[in-house]
Amino acid sequence: MRQYIDEGRERFLDELLEWLRVPSVSADPEHRADVKTAAEWVAKQLEIAGAEAVRLFETPGHPIVYGEKMVDASAPTILVYGHYDVQPADPVDLWTTPAFAPEIRTTARHPEGAIFARGAADDKGQAYMHVKALEVMCAAGGPPCNVRFLIEGEEEVGSVNLPGFVAAHRELLTCDVVLISDTALIGREVPSLTVGLRGLAYFEVTATGPDRDLHSGVYGGAIANPINALCEIVAALTDERGRITIPGFYDDVVELDPQERAALAKAPFDEAAYAAELGVEAAAGGERLDYTPRERASIRPTLDVNGIWGGYTGAGAKTVLPSQAHAKVSLRLVPDQDPERVNRLFAEHVSRLAPPGVRVDVRPHHGGVPAVLPTDSDEYRAASEAMSATFGKPPVPARGGGSIPIVALFERQLGVKCVLMGFGLNSDDIHSPDEHFGLWNFYRGIETIPHFYAAYARAKATA
Ligand code: BES
Ligand code: MN
Ligand code: MN
Repeated sequence: MRQYIDEGRERFLDELLEWLRVPSVSADPEHRADVKTAAEWVAKQLEIAGAEAVRLFETPGHPIVYGEKMVDASAPTILVYGHYDVQPADPVDLWTTPAFAPEIRTTARHPEGAIFARGAADDKGQAYMHVKALEVMCAAGGPPCNVRFLIEGEEEVGSVNLPGFVAAHRELLTCDVVLISDTALIGREVPSLTVGLRGLAYFEVTATGPDRDLHSGVYGGAIANPINALCEIVAALTDERGRITIPGFYDDVVELDPQERAALAKAPFDEAAYAAELGVEAAAGGERLDYTPRERASIRPTLDVNGIWGGYTGAGAKTVLPSQAHAKVSLRLVPDQDPERVNRLFAEHVSRLAPPGVRVDVRPHHGGVPAVLPTDSDEYRAASEAMSATFGKPPVPARGGGSIPIVALFERQLGVKCVLMGFGLNSDDIHSPDEHFGLWNFYRGIETIPHFYAAYARAKATA
């Protein structure tokens, strides 16, 4: 298989670049046709790689791509999940080269080069590793397990149609484990497996004051300003220790015991370099007095304003007391927090914080349930074995700060564990301008995936 990968290197990359040129932005209705093109493209590639029964399932949103390679009814079945949709390229002016014109450039972290394009790491590049791994295994006589592929086109917009699809196609999705590459490694020298993902609650908050914009001199001081009020509300959502003030919010937060915290702290972390690389003086967000930056970005819940607007934002000064103010606020959740409960607590708390003369409406968006994978499982051990084979050392378990809401749903609806074997880096600038994915990471992923199939088949054969 090594040799096959070596001989296929250039072609694998050229194919991925072709996929990356398709602007499959799921959030933007103008890209609807492009999203479909990206789905059809990967369906065709799955077929070429050796998958059977390949088809597109239409949904009220974007299509779901399915394919399978069933080799032996007595062998275990792996369900590979990925997403072909990408985040919008905005702000487009900040890209060094256009988001959908992929270019290979070297960086300090990627001396062999990295692919710069929207979706390079999140998640087309990582999903494509699995397509190529299938090709490699098929060329070597076929995979040692059955495999089903489920590549969706709505992950970046909350996977709204996937739960219904999973419920309606349980039989088609029957499997023993779900394998996902949509997360990051701690580093090339520090292989890691993601054993937890945060959940999400997301709100749009609208503060409404007077029924029209007013002169801020004539009315200012007499009438409450909704932008001032919204800022006060946002400020009151966290305290001086960075704790979230919503009553009851921490009730279901699982505190890690000192042993678990020590285990997670083993991976090297240079706080000064981390801050410097992001252009800040210090890593000072969240519960900075009580937890390390890595803990705050993985095992602790957080609250962030994603956007805030209202009033006059044009050139020069306009004296105005605006009628409305808006903010998008997200909370990352950790086990065992429940997004539905957080929705309720947040709305109640915000309405209590509203001052007289200002009405506050809270509209929840899509959320997500947090997930954890036990290290003491066949699934984790097989993934660890696979990474040991190609990295030369076992991975460390790490908790990811991001969210993949469908993970908890797979576990609940299919009754199986999800292995999060990602090959990106946190510095890949996913969702940002100049998103990139290292060539080294791409090929290392293709090489490691077949080892997972083999290790998992062995584990289940002896189980
Ligand atoms: N692949 C990411 C999630 C991720 C990134 C997990 C890095 C761990 C490390 C995924 O595509 C994503 O962006 N998810 C969204 C959630 C979704 C509901 C829009 C997120 O985390 O914001
Ligand atoms: Mn992703
Ligand atoms: Mn994403």
